[in-house]
Amino acid sequence: MDIDQVFKNNEKWIAEKLAEGPDFFEKLCQGQEPELLYIGCSDSRVTAEEIMGLKAGEAFVHRNVANMVNSLDLNVMTVLNFAVNQLKVKHVVVCGHYGCGGIKAALQHSDMGILNPWLRNIRDVYRLHKNTLDNISDESKRYDKLVELNVQEQCINLIKTAAVQKASAAWDIKVHGWVFDMATGKLIDLKIDFKKILKGIEEIYRLEK
Ligand code: CO
Repeated sequence: MDIDQVFKNNEKWIAEKLAEGPDFFEKLCQGQEPELLYIGCSDSRVTAEEIMGLKAGEAFVHRNVANMVNSLDLNVMTVLNFAVNQLKVKHVVVCGHYGCGGIKAALQHSDMGILNPWLRNIRDVYRLHKNTLDNISDESKRYDKLVELNVQEQCINLIKTAAVQKASAAWDIKVHGWVFDMATGKLIDLKIDFKKILKGIEEIYRLEK
């Protein structure tokens, strides 16, 4: 990769944006009001804005290995709290993807050093859904299912936070679980039934009476 090409690309991008509207950068400087927080995987093939067709200023983005929402991760919790409390986003999306290397790594028995504690959160998702997953004999279908169940569990992790619980009481904030299928380019809404999932666990995770 020729790193200088990046700067050439940037010049081209500036020219394109100015051709669309001469005040493009002035508008950017005026501030942001994104209505959507996107939490996705760091995978280079799963771009955030590009796959959603969103422009600069429309999505607040956090990406990490295997799109995890861990309450001990100061990074994702800071992004979430800022997006909810300050930006007052209306949608919070967790987007996984089939063929996720992080999910695959978590299913292998190998010591990956500093990656171990991160990947262990995915192993915990496996443990929670062991019966469902072990009933799928096809290995690639089992991976796909774990990708989906991981998205579901990370969405539940969002609902466990005070930020999302308070926002839900104050405005119509919605949590969405999606998967990007890179074989087709499709963004799939898992249509997670949060009401059903929350029934029963709400009494454990509700932070206020
Ligand atoms: Co991934």
